[in-house]
Amino acid sequence: MDQKQEIERLHALISYHDHRYYVLADPEISDREYDSLFKRLEDFERQNPDLITPDSPTQRIGDALTTGFQSVSHPFPLASLQNSYDEGDLREFNQRIVQALDGRQPEYVCELKFDGVAVILKYEGGKLASGATRGDGEQGDDITANLRTIRALPLRIYLSSGQENVDPLFYVRGEVYMNKADFLSFNEERVSVGEKPFANPRNSVAGSLKLMEPRSVAKRPLAVVAYGYHAPGTEKPSTQAEALELLVQLGFPTSPHWTVVKDDKGVVDYWQKWQEMRDQLPFEIDGVVVKVNSFSDQKQLGMTARSPRWAMAFKFSARQATTRLNDIVLQIGRTGAITPVADLESVSLGGVTIRRATLHNFEEIKRLDLRIGDTVVLER
Ligand code: IVH
Repeated sequence: MDQKQEIERLHALISYHDHRYYVLADPEISDREYDSLFKRLEDFERQNPDLITPDSPTQRIGDALTTGFQSVSHPFPLASLQNSYDEGDLREFNQRIVQALDGRQPEYVCELKFDGVAVILKYEGGKLASGATRGDGEQGDDITANLRTIRALPLRIYLSSGQENVDPLFYVRGEVYMNKADFLSFNEERVSVGEKPFANPRNSVAGSLKLMEPRSVAKRPLAVVAYGYHAPGTEKPSTQAEALELLVQLGFPTSPHWTVVKDDKGVVDYWQKWQEMRDQLPFEIDGVVVKVNSFSDQKQLGMTARSPRWAMAFKFSARQATTRLNDIVLQIGRTGAITPVADLESVSLGGVTIRRATLHNFEEIKRLDLRIGDTVVLER
C-alpha cells in the first residue's frame, strides 16, 4: 500500500471510530487505540504534507479568523415556523391542510424542537464544503471553521452502500445545542476563572459559534442534531421520515425521538408526552415540530411569506412553581450597576432548584407590588 492509500485508509478508519464515539456513543476501541491511530495519521501527514486534505480528521481546527465572518446568501430561503400553543391552533392547522389537499388527511412526522442555534451545512462531493447560521433566513454568517470543530459532524461521508450513492450536492439543516450537564460544568468553569456565566445553553451555543478562534470553539461542549435534508433535483428521499433515516445512514447525529402519526390527534398525544417528559432529556427542548410527511404534499401546500404551510412549531407552556419570597437582596455588578434579586424559598422547577431570581430593577418591584413574605409564582 502506498502512502496515499494508507492515509486514506486512516481517514476512513478514524472517521468510523469518531462516528462510533461521538454519534452512536458506542465506541469499539479504547481511547488509547484511537490515539495511536490518530498519531499514526499525524506522522504520515508530517512526512507527506502534500497529502493533507481538508477532510482529514487532523484538520478540524483551522486558523483564527482575522476579519470576522463572511455573510453568505443561502441557496434557498431558510424559513422559520409558525408557532402554536394549544390544541385549537393545531386543529386549525390540520383543517387548513386537509382542505388544501382536497379533503385528504396526510401523515405527519413529529419531532422535538431543539432549543439551540439553527445552521445549514453544504456537502459537495460527499465532503463538508461550508456551514452557516440561519441569520435572517436569506443571509447568514459563514461559520464553517467553527462547525468543523464539532466532532460529531462528518467532514466526509462514508456510506456503507458505496460512495456513488451519496448525492453530489446536498444540504443538511440542523441545530447546534449544548447538553444541560455540559452547560452547567462549562459555566462553573467560567465562573472559577472569573468569567461571566451564560444565562442558558442556547446563549452559550450562540456565544461559542461567534468566537473567531476555532481552537477555543473546539473546547466548548457543542453538540449538533440534523433534521433536514435537501438535495436539489433528486426524487429520494420522498418523505421527511425517509430523510431522517437517510441522515442516520450518512452518519449525521439525529434524534431517535421522532415518530409518524396519522392525524392531529396523534400530534397532540406526542406533544403531551414530551411536555411531561422534557425534563428527562439531557438537552433543552421548547416544544415539538410537526411536519407533513410527504415531500410532494409539502410542495403542494407551499409557503406563506414567512413560513411553510406544511409545518408548525407546537410550543410547551412555561413551567410554573409557587414559592415564598424570603428577601430582596442587592447585587452590585462589576460596573457598579445595582440589580435587586429575589431570595426565594428553594423550589424545584423543571429539574433545577431555584433559589434566586433577578427582579431586573426597582420599577419591576413596584410593578409587581412585591413584599417580603409574599407567595410568588415563578415561570421558566
Ligand atoms: S424544521 C421549514 N425541525 O426551530 C422548516 N426546526 O422556527 C424548518 N428547530 O429555525 C425548520 N428543532 O432553529 C425544524 N426538529 C426541528 C427543529 C427546528 C428546532 C428550530 C430551527 C428553526 C426554528 C423554527
